Amino acid sequence: MSHQSDPTDQVAVADDGSVRVIRLNRPEKKNALTQPMYTALTRALHEANESAAIRCVVLAGAPGAFCAGADIGEFLESAQSGGLRPKTIEFLHALAQNQKPLVAAVGGLAVGIGTTMLLHCDYVVAATGATFATPFTRLGLLPEAASSLLGPRRMGHARAFALLVMGRPLTAAAAKEAGIVNDVVDAALVEATALAAAHEIAALPAGAVAQSRALLRGELDEVVRRIDTEAMAFRERLQSDEARAAFTAFLSRRK
Ligand code: COA
Repeated sequence: MSHQSDPTDQVAVADDGSVRVIRLNRPEKKNALTQPMYTALTRALHEANESAAIRCVVLAGAPGAFCAGADIGEFLESAQSGGLRPKTIEFLHALAQNQKPLVAAVGGLAVGIGTTMLLHCDYVVAATGATFATPFTRLGLLPEAASSLLGPRRMGHARAFALLVMGRPLTAAAAKEAGIVNDVVDAALVEATALAAAHEIAALPAGAVAQSRALLRGELDEVVRRIDTEAMAFRERLQSDEARAAFTAFLSRRK
């Protein structure tokens, strides 16, 4: 694999032939996403789009933790400064508008945006012990990343409501049952299985894959508009007393 450096070091990009692996690399915080990490993710996706040599992208995390969601400390900071999270929104746009097939390797927990970004992926491999949770309302927030559109579309309203509004977690098996995960494998096999799927996709005629994918995904503008609608409401919710209390409780919890 050839390696490219990244300004934050908390997102690592490496190519394996025609497959680009974008790895969240903040394991000490369970890969909670900061604004610099969103910037690096956006850049990595844009670069993959622009490279004719890259035919598929794998999103990966750390063993046991794919992504614990947005950094709650940053949530609190942005709540205090007006709720703006420009790098998050740029990343969500890049994710929705990404042209290359996206495979995810979920080695463990996937929380908040760690789960909702998977709704933009084309193939998801999860470890047997992985869990998928979106505790948005418990944090005084609401679903984002167009999950209010893609969630019901992918799994039906009943299951989407339990996940996205009630905040009930899904096991890997339940996520597969719900249609947001393709393969559930032993933790040690997650990355190899995801890479194999990515190479399988990369070996297909790229033009035919791109057009087929675009047809399956449907109207892009609708997804981008939903990201923006959610983001406006999310910004207000970030500044609510409910949200501030939840963030402070998380940040001051004793373990
Ligand atoms: N934002 C900021 N820090 C986070 C974080 C997040 N979303 N998720 C985890 N961390 C930090 C923890 O505060 C802890 O930091 P510390 O070691 O300095 O205390 C470190 O990452 C490890 O997390 P810890 O809680 O000790 O691991 P765990 O295995 O017991 O629990 C989680 C993992 C993900 C269940 C738990 O950390 C959690 O609930 N995180 C918040 C998830 C969340 O609500 N995300 C936002 C969704 S919108």
